[in-house]
Amino acid sequence: MKLNIEKLFPVEQNIPEQYSSKYIQQNYYLIDGKLRLWDGPLQNVLSPLLVSSPEGLVSKKIGEAPLLDETSALEALDVSVRAYSNGRGIWPTMLVAERIRSIKLFTSAMLKRRDEITILLQLEIGKSLLEAEREFDRTVQYIYDTIEALKELDRSSSRFIIQQGIIGQIRRAPLGVVLCMGPYNFPLYETFTTLIPALVMGNTILVKPPRFGILIFQPLLEAFREYFPPGVINTIYGDGEVVIPPLMASGKIDVLGFVGTHRVADALRAFHPRPHRLRCVLGLDAKNPAIVIPSADLDLTVKECMQGSLSFNGQRCTALKIFFVHRSVVDDFIQRMSAGIKALKCGMPWEKGVTITPLPEPEKPVYLEGLVDDALRLGADVVNKGGGVRKGTVFYPALLYPVTPYMRVYAEEQFGPVIPVVPFDDISEPIEYVVQSNYGQQASIFGQDTDMLAQLVDSLVNQVCRININSQCQRGPDSFPFNGRKNSADGTQSVVDALRIFSIRIVVAARESDSNREIINDIVKERKSHFISTDYML
Ligand code: G3H
Repeated sequence: MKLNIEKLFPVEQNIPEQYSSKYIQQNYYLIDGKLRLWDGPLQNVLSPLLVSSPEGLVSKKIGEAPLLDETSALEALDVSVRAYSNGRGIWPTMLVAERIRSIKLFTSAMLKRRDEITILLQLEIGKSLLEAEREFDRTVQYIYDTIEALKELDRSSSRFIIQQGIIGQIRRAPLGVVLCMGPYNFPLYETFTTLIPALVMGNTILVKPPRFGILIFQPLLEAFREYFPPGVINTIYGDGEVVIPPLMASGKIDVLGFVGTHRVADALRAFHPRPHRLRCVLGLDAKNPAIVIPSADLDLTVKECMQGSLSFNGQRCTALKIFFVHRSVVDDFIQRMSAGIKALKCGMPWEKGVTITPLPEPEKPVYLEGLVDDALRLGADVVNKGGGVRKGTVFYPALLYPVTPYMRVYAEEQFGPVIPVVPFDDISEPIEYVVQSNYGQQASIFGQDTDMLAQLVDSLVNQVCRININSQCQRGPDSFPFNGRKNSADGTQSVVDALRIFSIRIVVAARESDSNREIINDIVKERKSHFISTDYML
């Protein structure tokens, strides 16, 4: 098996030309409407797609990006603060229709860079071509859906409400400077699901690319520069531990949009001198369970569980990360899962039909091996042939059974291709697991017995935020709320919720009197205010 995995890595000559020739020398960053030259240190961007050579497997450098320091990060922050200008800047006071126009122009430019960005996603994070294209396309769809939701919001805010002798108009206003930090597994989509709603609501933005998935932003910098006023979007590159704490400690960040671990989120929030003035929109850790009851249709269950645990090598916050399977069906379940894993294609992201690809975090294969070794020591087996074998950046999926509460993999979020299976006799056992868990994002339940399914749903609805029946866990569709309890999230995201979370409701009110009516009518008729207005978009 070791040798076979090694053979997955190509020799240089066998790498398709559009991948082998890709190299981005980025010695500039976007600040104050300019692509400013950075003459400080650069960071090497290495691809997890190792290359086979006479010396063994070697890393390939695919580009360089700026390593900003504290001073330059703080300067970018000051530029964002200035562009917001206490809510009186060009962008926060612009008509919504004009902001939408900028976003549409930007999106058209972004669409022209689809091929380049999807190649970079494959090279930087090892995402398969199919999944990279899906990530790009769902991001674009999210932008269009956001525009439609904003138009709807604008229409419903364009009327006056008269109640208890008070005339009021209620609209949403921006919050200030938003720091957007997406994760490496969905560097484009997850960054844009905070960046776009924050932007369109009139905030100014600082974007910090994740640790992996840095170069994917480079093809977009020119469009950001061209279609938004100077300072509305600024980029921060470099080591997060160096550049982010000073930004938070300044107290000038108004909203933190962050996807990552709760530990980092807590640390970042703690840097802020006035935490009550910081709004946080956080997507955090999760350990979503699958619960398989005796009546489950195993064909369907295994199909969903395979996708739920191994899409993008299990590197999804919504991935199924622990499997509670009733003892009466567990043997059948693990046999089918083993067969399912065997049928998966491993290889480079551009290969047709590939599922298992190299992992971007260099330390991840060793970490996963540690989880497997710990489980083996405590009595579990790897039940699929070759499971847990690693070479270079590839880790072959390991199906672990039987997993017990004493093993690390029972509680730790593996975020990779390790599938722990826990047998149970009574439905109270998985329910108790979820109750005791530090996480509360989603769960999947598999079965046909509606009495038991209903009992499970009713027990889980106050523990997690989405229960999927005979379906894997997932974020989409984007109109659904995406959130979590406990350590799994702060705030709810969906296309509509995100517009709300990056803004605040403001009321302009007046006692209903003839003179106030005249004043309001005059302002509306003469179009004297952007806020007091009955104009709406179609
Ligand atoms: O990693 C978190 C992503 O938002 C997951 O999205 O569930 O649609 O794959 P997904």
